[in-house]
Amino acid sequence: MGHDSSTHAEGREVPHQDGAARDARRCDLVIDRCTCFDLRFSDLKKKVEERPATMDQIARRYGCGSCCGICRPYIERMLETGETVFHEILTERDAGTR
Ligand code: FES
Repeated sequence: MGHDSSTHAEGREVPHQDGAARDARRCDLVIDRCTCFDLRFSDLKKKVEERPATMDQIARRYGCGSCCGICRPYIERMLETGETVFHEILTERDAGTR
């Protein structure tokens, strides 16, 4: 084949720009902030500890979750568990599942 890629046990082929084969399960994904408002979840958690808020109140007060909304399931998970760094993709379907 004419492209850089590898096939792993599960048969998932993951091409990588620098030619190094990467396993999607082992990628170094780090999601730690609302990118639209450049606010880390750890900083948001401190704000919520000082002044408790629901997801909708967070969106109104700090903007997070009110633009693209991609951060909403992470913030909801943060409110549930206290986690502020994530290594997996969460969607609205994941909100409230823990
Ligand atoms: S990433 Fe938080 S609103 Fe877009």
